[in-house]
Amino acid sequence: MSILVTGGCGFIGTNFIFDWLAQSDEKVINLDLLTYAGNRLNLSTLESDPRYQFIEGDIGDYASLLARLQEYRPRAVINFAAESHVDRSIHGPEDFIQTNIVGTFRLLEAVRAYWRQLEGDAKAAFRCLHVSTDEVYGSLEAGEPAFSETNRYQPNSPYSASKASSDHLVRSYYHTYGLPVLTTNCSNNYGPYQFPEKLIPLMIHNALAGESLPIYGDGQQIRDWLYVSDHCSAIRSVLCAGKVGEVYNIGGLNEITNIDIVYTVCDLLEELVPENMNSLASAINSRRSPQARGFRGLVTYVADRPGHDRRYAIDASKIGRELDWRPEETFESGIRKTVEWYLQNQSWVEAITSGEYRNWIDTHYR
Ligand code: NAD
Ligand code: TYD
Repeated sequence: MSILVTGGCGFIGTNFIFDWLAQSDEKVINLDLLTYAGNRLNLSTLESDPRYQFIEGDIGDYASLLARLQEYRPRAVINFAAESHVDRSIHGPEDFIQTNIVGTFRLLEAVRAYWRQLEGDAKAAFRCLHVSTDEVYGSLEAGEPAFSETNRYQPNSPYSASKASSDHLVRSYYHTYGLPVLTTNCSNNYGPYQFPEKLIPLMIHNALAGESLPIYGDGQQIRDWLYVSDHCSAIRSVLCAGKVGEVYNIGGLNEITNIDIVYTVCDLLEELVPENMNSLASAINSRRSPQARGFRGLVTYVADRPGHDRRYAIDASKIGRELDWRPEETFESGIRKTVEWYLQNQSWVEAITSGEYRNWIDTHYR
């Protein structure tokens, strides 16, 4: 038996594959296009493991995907592959339309063709799980109830609109063709292997470089933060026991403002950098301007993101009630693990922050 994961060289996919193989001997086939966000080296320790197979491929390539499905005959497909960064979707929405909408459509077509050829128990047990985001529901005002699965879709960025479209396509393949799909809509993840264009790893990276910490607008936007391993366990629960055709919202019960996230990161760095990395700390201190008061002194308010959603919050009561899932990490434990991981894996960040990443920083922040 095996599962096929798409986008497994990205942040959540990498964590999911490690997590899966830590708990199961069931083979994972990882199909990834290796865009700027995909890093095959994340999983290099698995390359010689017979339970793991990497395939470079595009979810938008119907023929090749179908051939792979027929070759490996997975019992499930889990679709993580996507363009995932809101700011990039504002600068250039085209890739988001191609991968998130057209790509998901072609993936669904290939999966449908494969599933139709299955028989008996294999056909009955097959599942296609689509990983999506809470951003499809739009923005909440203070005091409004958290997003539940029945909330109206009101996406506000090209990213969330493209994910919303993909969710609609997935839903339609269940209602029209009976394809056994499951959809998960999750809040903001954080943890190891997150590309340093996203808030938390960007702040860690900039702080360690003694560079400014750019806060969009007033920094009072709220996200519901979930440690990535909790997202992985939720996906496993939905895959194992979720009801076909249903949607499950996944959240961390951690509504926190952006500025509080950044201050927490700064304070953890103050605590951990001198202890663990004395030479790094003195190098950073020598680069800091005299008026900077520790890492918090690097905070800089910058122009707001266009169409910036004010607040996301997830009502995760359905997955709790029906599948007995709840997050294990508190924000305090998860953010500490995250900062520690980045401090211990500076070479991973450095490998990324050369090349294309530099161009992004220049385009977006300067
Ligand atoms: P990521 O950007 O880190 O990784 C995306 C991966 O998909 C990369 O490895 C990339 O190479 C691959 N990919 C891109 N286009 C592809 C294509 N056409 N074919 C095959 N592979 C392709 O993203 P992530 O943060 O790991 O997010 C994974 C999924 O989870 C996405 O669907 C995202 O919308 C969703 N999600 C993310 C978050 C979050 O906070 N990161 C929250 C909720 C939902
Ligand atoms: P991000 O990590 O891009 O996730 P998303 O947009 O999917 O929620 O951003 C999280 C929040 O942090 C969001 O409100 C935008 C804000 N943000 C900043 O204030 N500064 C930054 O440099 C970045 C990347 C994000």
